[in-house]
Amino acid sequence: MWGCVAVSGSSFDAASDAVLGPETLESYRNATALAIEALQSGYFASNTPFSGRTPDEIHEDIAETEPFPSAGQSLAAVLERVSSLVCADSVGVYHPQSMAHLHCPPTVPALAAELIVSAMNQSMDSWDQSPAATAVESTLIEGLTAVCGLGAGSDGVFTSGSTEANVLGLLLARNWAIADRFDHDAQTAGLPTAAQSLRILCSGEAHFTARQAAGQLGLGDDAVVEIPTDDDHQLSITALESTLDRLTEDSLEPFALIGTAGTTDFGRIDPLDRLGAIADEHNLWFHVDGAYGGPLVFSDRHRDRLSGIERADSIAMDFHKLCQQPLSCGVFLVADGEQYASIDRSAAYLNPDDTGAESSHHLVSKSLQTSRRFDALKPYVTFQTLGTDTMGAGIDSLLALAADTASLIESNESLTLAAQPSLSTVVFRYDHPSNEDDATDRIREQLRDDGTAMLARTVVDGRPHLKFTFVNPRTTIDDVIEVLEAVVAAGQASTESTQPTPSR
Ligand SMILES: Cc1ncc(COP(=O)(O)O)c(C=O)c1O
Repeated sequence: MWGCVAVSGSSFDAASDAVLGPETLESYRNATALAIEALQSGYFASNTPFSGRTPDEIHEDIAETEPFPSAGQSLAAVLERVSSLVCADSVGVYHPQSMAHLHCPPTVPALAAELIVSAMNQSMDSWDQSPAATAVESTLIEGLTAVCGLGAGSDGVFTSGSTEANVLGLLLARNWAIADRFDHDAQTAGLPTAAQSLRILCSGEAHFTARQAAGQLGLGDDAVVEIPTDDDHQLSITALESTLDRLTEDSLEPFALIGTAGTTDFGRIDPLDRLGAIADEHNLWFHVDGAYGGPLVFSDRHRDRLSGIERADSIAMDFHKLCQQPLSCGVFLVADGEQYASIDRSAAYLNPDDTGAESSHHLVSKSLQTSRRFDALKPYVTFQTLGTDTMGAGIDSLLALAADTASLIESNESLTLAAQPSLSTVVFRYDHPSNEDDATDRIREQLRDDGTAMLARTVVDGRPHLKFTFVNPRTTIDDVIEVLEAVVAAGQASTESTQPTPSR
């Protein structure tokens, strides 16, 4: 009586034809096959990690297409263009010589989960928008708090990454401190004048999002006191203790201590156990930024290096770095779930307090986001498929590759290692005979533009350095050797090009 909606293969005549439902499942299957073809011909066809084209060239090509055309065309035609315009000029994170950032190739199980996540489009804010998804996320959070050694009553939520998790940790810390120190409710009454004295302590090599969070929380960037690191780039306990004394003498109010479990450049893990003890002694909220190194909890070989993480009041950790989950996929954990009360919110349409069995299952008040993706399914499917044995061994092999790379660099007289690796990054320099700093940038650009490798750049002691970041389990030591040879060759070429022309 109602007729049947026609399912078109790759053209959609009406908006309703384009929406996923049982009648359009076949169309979705075809669309998925077209998308995989676009990846195959545009993204995976090249044997280099990047096309080497300039930002202007790429922008001009893409800007040629009208972004909001009045009439559409077939999906096949659109994806063909996406393949040549977008996929072909994207960074091949799958490529073993893509070694620049904490930017991983995703696992196939996670991508299968991603299909389900986006097709079902559950929203994690209220239980009635994500009944089973809420249970999956809560179960993973419970499992991870246990793996990290947080006690009963701990809680948490999936995040877009550690930027968000660091803000959330410091938000709870700020509200707790303002109530504790000044008997004031920051959520309803805002910041008291005395909040100007609040200070957050972290190492001078902590991630920039510590300052960013302090700014966003109304404390100001200057509320962050950076503690010098020791010769091995770890937060110095002696410097921390003297800073705490100085702050007290100056009538300032330290309230949070951040321990970094894996700094972005050197992968250093601060002495978490000592930091946890000092935080207890001084009544500080202890937040662990485990964005990078947190997943070591899954490694039998390296888990002990996170000893002390169980003392944390809150933890940030990313699955989208060392665990090869597609962006975004991070978590925030809090040791005392009651601390969430300081940011609790109730919206009549979303999470009213009086809806019986549902009421304790809404996740909206645990997150900085309202509508939120079901990202938890990605690590759920990945870990169910591979197990922590395989995931842990994958992490171990990335760390071993970094150690082997450091030995190769040390054995080459043209290269200088900045520091022994700790996780999977390796920072080094090409020693240009004229001591030129520009050589580092020229080498990096040349390798990127000729498609040899994607390397990162960072600054150590005021001088630019090159950086490998290994997050791709497909990268081998042979890839590293090839890239190091290219670095040395590019460095030598740059030496020749900067030699003064001999006078005739
Ligand atoms: C130590 C550290 N903390 C926080 C972040 C921010 O994490 P995300 O990019 O997941 O927001 C990073 C990113 O590299 C990081 O290395």
